Amino acid sequence: MRLLTFFAKRFVAGETAEEAVKAVKKLNGIGMSTSLDILGENVTNQEMAIKTADNYISLLQTIKDHALDSHVSIKLTQMGLDISDDFCYDNVSRILEKADSLNIFVRVDMEGSPYTERTLQLVYRWHEKFPKMGTVIQAALYRSEKDVEELNKRKIRVRLCKGAYKEPSSVAFPKKEDVNANYVKLVDMLMKDGDFPGIATHDGVMIRAALDAAEKYGRTKEFFEFQMLFGVNRAAQRELAEQGYGMRVYTPFGTHWLPYNLRRLRERKENVIFILKHFFKD
Ligand code: FDA
Repeated sequence: MRLLTFFAKRFVAGETAEEAVKAVKKLNGIGMSTSLDILGENVTNQEMAIKTADNYISLLQTIKDHALDSHVSIKLTQMGLDISDDFCYDNVSRILEKADSLNIFVRVDMEGSPYTERTLQLVYRWHEKFPKMGTVIQAALYRSEKDVEELNKRKIRVRLCKGAYKEPSSVAFPKKEDVNANYVKLVDMLMKDGDFPGIATHDGVMIRAALDAAEKYGRTKEFFEFQMLFGVNRAAQRELAEQGYGMRVYTPFGTHWLPYNLRRLRERKENVIFILKHFFKD
């Protein structure tokens, strides 16, 4: 039970919106912005998908009421993408309307490759009506170069990450060095033509590549930001913020933390060792 509690808290800001607000205030206080995420995915029950969208709508109001420097991030399978595209479109449109009225940015996270095309098609539709929203591109996927081209053309904001989902070699680079090389290529495209790119990584080499590309195209600090995950590489988060770079911390909260935390464990075997060490410590 103790292990479970510790594991639950390792990468999330808490179970409730109150706990999340506290965490955001702390981060805002040290010069970092956030993107709040209500944990959950693969919801196949309509009522639950509607309820989750309602929770996001009230979260947006909370951001406004507490004057937090925060966006929100949503997952489409949490909003009913597994039910139908039209249902998901309508459900998320309610969040986007509220966000638009409060002038808060909404990011659509990218999930596994079976959802990539549908996610992008929905984002294209929403963006025509609600320009204050963007999405995520995963360097792991072969298709991403074409997608970045299209998103840049449409002036849709991109958060670039490596990709957290286990993908087959038919759609994604199996080797880490190829994912990294693609990340560097996509960073270059985003720094050249993207609208306020979000460079989401904890990898010092990718961060360096982003800074080099920004310099190459004369893109100054106000026109891009770095993004990292809550609880991961806090030293680098602080260092970049202190150097005056935009640092946005992806801050998830809620009770459905298991799949999210398992993805975080898979990214780094030391995390498993860290958690087990804590378990045997006392
Ligand atoms: P990499 O995995 O190579 O790690 C580089 C170094 O960073 C490691 O050596 C370690 O020091 C540190 N590190 C990385 N992960 C760690 C962890 N979990 N715990 C401790 N240290 C760690 N993915 C996705 O598919 N869809 C999405 O929408 C998003 N959204 C997203 C938002 C933000 C803000 C971030 C930072 C990341 C995502 N991701 C994501 C996850 C992303 O795809 C990727 O899985 C992780 O960021 C890890 O990749 P890195 O770029 O950090 O490199």
